Amino acid sequence: MTMRETVQGKGERSSNPIFLLTGDKPEALDVKRSAQAAVNIKEAVQSTDTQSAEHIFVLTDAERDAVGELIASLPALNVRSVEDDLLTRVEMAGRQMPQRLAETLIRFRRQANRYGSLLIRNLPTDPVLPDTPRDGKPAPDKKTFFSEYSLLMTMVQLGEPISYSDEKDGVLIQNICPVAGHEAKQENTGSTYLEFHTEDGFHPYKPDYLGLVCLRSDHERLAETATASIRNVLHAIPSTAITLLRQPLFRLRLSTSFLHGSNSQEMYSAAMPVLTGNLLQPEMCVDYFLMEATTPEAKWALELLKAELLKVASGFVLLPGDMVLIDNRLAAHARTGFTPRYDGKDRWLQRCFTVEDFRRSAFSRSPGQHICSPLSIVFSMQDAG
Ligand SMILES: [Fe+2]
Repeated sequence: MTMRETVQGKGERSSNPIFLLTGDKPEALDVKRSAQAAVNIKEAVQSTDTQSAEHIFVLTDAERDAVGELIASLPALNVRSVEDDLLTRVEMAGRQMPQRLAETLIRFRRQANRYGSLLIRNLPTDPVLPDTPRDGKPAPDKKTFFSEYSLLMTMVQLGEPISYSDEKDGVLIQNICPVAGHEAKQENTGSTYLEFHTEDGFHPYKPDYLGLVCLRSDHERLAETATASIRNVLHAIPSTAITLLRQPLFRLRLSTSFLHGSNSQEMYSAAMPVLTGNLLQPEMCVDYFLMEATTPEAKWALELLKAELLKVASGFVLLPGDMVLIDNRLAAHARTGFTPRYDGKDRWLQRCFTVEDFRRSAFSRSPGQHICSPLSIVFSMQDAG
């Protein structure tokens, strides 16, 4: 059997569904019902271990109310100008969060888990929501800030918030909504299947964590957020492939959301490895849409890794009050397709990034600011040495 046949054979066996988590217990969801889901995610197999509670945390109603009281003590929020003083207040408020949640976040930050993700449910929600923004920009008519502060209070436990001036105007808390005309884009404004990827893997200051909090699900509750972790597949990858994946034999095409105006031609990252760090618990940077292998052998290794990741992919439809935290160094994430109506009630998430080592990006930021310079500027500085 050739290597190619080996990969295909494994794919053919991958016919199980991924899972929809609607309560404490996951229930099976046949992803084929999502007509827009790409072929490869239909092949994804749910790991039986995913039915454990290791990466799912459900707040009790009393804990939810306690988080809500902490948020009620915070001021009105303008997501376009989140100052350090406010971040300090949020972090201090977070130190009073329910102990069970605090302990779960510490464990996730310190050791993560085999899924590289943590789903938190039953967070406080905003009593009244305006229409879902049609342009994905901040919503000026949102008058309460339970979603923003739930996200921020949780994320600052995992690092320092960071954003990129190329993307979403550099705001620290970004609205993720479908935008008319962007349906097929492999970006957060799209609505067809968004393939597995490391968030901003081409960026020298890419997030260590991303958090997504749900304000509204899509109308049919079809859009599943899926994750797949290197920790769940490393044992299945032959040493030959791992050796190749640890070499700089790969490159990433820059996302179009980072390319503007005169820089709109295709740009690529420097040659990079897919796996780095600890031999037994490596970090991973992968992108099913933007990553290219530079040799046939590297392509074989990459395709093998991608096939194995799909076998352990697990997904869930995010519901209002849900938040998923993803360790961007361990888990790739994806979203299955859905059909927006552009009626003001479409799917609405908010997103925030953090890094563990904030000072590493200081060269790219104004003093006291969290927004990194345009990527073209960062790259030109690197080229200049
Ligand atoms: Fe993403």
